[in-house]
Amino acid sequence: MIYLHGDLGAGKTTLVRGVLRALGFAGRVKSPTYTLVEHYEAGGLHLRHFDLYRFRDAEEWESSGFRDEFDRCNICLVEWPQQAAGLLPAADLTLDLQILPHGRALTFHANSDTGQECLNDL
Ligand SMILES: Nc1ncnc2c1ncn2[C@@H]1O[C@H](COP(=O)(O)OP(=O)(O)OP(=O)(O)O)[C@@H](O)[C@H]1O
Ligand SMILES: [Mg+2]
Repeated sequence: MIYLHGDLGAGKTTLVRGVLRALGFAGRVKSPTYTLVEHYEAGGLHLRHFDLYRFRDAEEWESSGFRDEFDRCNICLVEWPQQAAGLLPAADLTLDLQILPHGRALTFHANSDTGQECLNDL
């Protein structure tokens, strides 16, 4: 479970696109701004890309069936996780993107043993 933090336009979706390309996914990677979630299979993994910017309340959580999504994916990447605080599973990794005058700064935090193992492999 990877939370992606950063202001509007910080590069969260672009980062996910890069991850998918690195895993060999050649198709279109669009922002899940309206669909809230997009599904991918790449590199033998099931991935879910969420954008919860427009997510509003716990009722929507139940009706959307999001809970099941997390059981069925190997890697979940979540933009705007704070919109579903208390509903989302805890993050293994938290990534924070900051806009710089030229490019971006990316900060990683491990929040679990799994997350730490990922950082150790970088
Ligand atoms: N590392 C980068 N360096 C320079 N430009 C970037 C970088 N990452 C993204 N951009 C540019 O910033 C713009 C916004 O990127 P993106 O849509 O990925 O942001 P986002 O964080 O997903 O925004 P939102 O919160 O609205 O979903 C795009 O035009 C993209 O090309
Ligand atoms: Mg985005």
